[in-house]
Amino acid sequence: MSSAPAPTQSVGPEFRSQESKPTATVSVNVDVENVKVLAQTPQLIALLSMIRNKDTDRADFIFYSNRIIRLLVEEGLNHLPVIERNVTTPVGHTYNGLMFQGKICGVSIMRAGEAMEQGLRDCCRSVRIGKILIQRDEETAMPKLFYDKLPEDIAQRWVLLLDPMFATGGSAIMAVDVLKSRGVPEDHILFLNLIASPEGVKNFASKFPRVTVVTAFIDQGLDDKNYIVPGLGDFGDRFYTI
Ligand code: URA
Repeated sequence: MSSAPAPTQSVGPEFRSQESKPTATVSVNVDVENVKVLAQTPQLIALLSMIRNKDTDRADFIFYSNRIIRLLVEEGLNHLPVIERNVTTPVGHTYNGLMFQGKICGVSIMRAGEAMEQGLRDCCRSVRIGKILIQRDEETAMPKLFYDKLPEDIAQRWVLLLDPMFATGGSAIMAVDVLKSRGVPEDHILFLNLIASPEGVKNFASKFPRVTVVTAFIDQGLDDKNYIVPGLGDFGDRFYTI
């Protein structure tokens, strides 16, 4: 078991004085380049409070997780390249805008990562989504690749890798190794997750410093079963079965 101190912060709208705002636990700061933590807004903290609560039922767990997933996908898209795009508005004026450049795809780490696919589809219509199944090998206790199905042209795409809980980083590291073996450059991979552990983030970033990690929150640590604490329990069970 390892644990970083829990940072707290007054969270609330600007019109309220600092003293009148409630205090909440916010993300641990790991100060690792290429790790982007969503702004710790009242909205995000309230959404996370819903899904962390052990008494939240499955329907609410899905609903509030989906809202956070949407924020992660929107933030992830900010890290893709854009080019200039000027458009003419209905009143005949020019707006100097932007458009995305390049092709993307999602890759979900089964099973929990599949819960993030709809959020990606909601933002990127008809996006291709590959799958990777990694499970613990009972003999070696190490993560083992059981299955993958990826778009054939994945080496030419930006990849949004999806897994909600970033605990030890073992599965994410193996998934990035698979993507690299198919020709995806490290700096074309964005790893999106809801809750990360400081050790997972540091372990992963030391191996893949050029992969961008977008997370909603870095928690205090891991318990002796490698669950994130305070965490939210088993994401896949809560989203799919409980
Ligand atoms: N996977 C989960 O679902 N929860 C954790 O806390 C860690 C890994």
